[in-house]
Amino acid sequence: MADYYPYIKHLHVICVAISIMLFLLRSMWTFQDSLMLASPWARSVPHYVDTTLLVAAIFLTTIIHQYPLQASWLTAKVGGLLAHILFGLLFFHYKGSWAVRKVALALSLLAFAYIVAVALTRNPFLFG
Ligand code: HEM
Repeated sequence: MADYYPYIKHLHVICVAISIMLFLLRSMWTFQDSLMLASPWARSVPHYVDTTLLVAAIFLTTIIHQYPLQASWLTAKVGGLLAHILFGLLFFHYKGSWAVRKVALALSLLAFAYIVAVALTRNPFLFG
């Protein structure tokens, strides 16, 4: 395996930590209807972090020669990522009922926790 694999994995994991912190911060600002949400850095930095997270993920998959649709745990991670993004979009942008938005936020966070659990176990079912 490539010598630099641990560095890319660290980069991936650091981006994961920053990504969820920024997500939680933006969620808090959404509840407070804060003007901070419209600040240039709040609109751009999360995209830079998430792009770096995904580019690092692509490097990792090519180093270990395991890919989504071929390795079930990576397919599960991509599925979880899509759920995290879609429910997140619903929470941040849907202008209807708060009950719906809160459920969307909970499901988006659950999807994120699932991705981390799959990453740690390399098992889409998490155990067994
Ligand atoms: C928000 C999305 C993601 C989160 C929260 C996440 C989380 C993590 C975490 C916590 C680890 C470290 C596991 C460990 O310490 O052993 C990890 C490793 C890894 N992730 Fe992700 N990941 C995400 C997206 C992706 C995607 C989309 C892919 C590829 C399709 C991917 C591929 C990998 C690979 C190959 C590893 C290394 C596994 C190992 O060496 O054991 N990740 N991920």
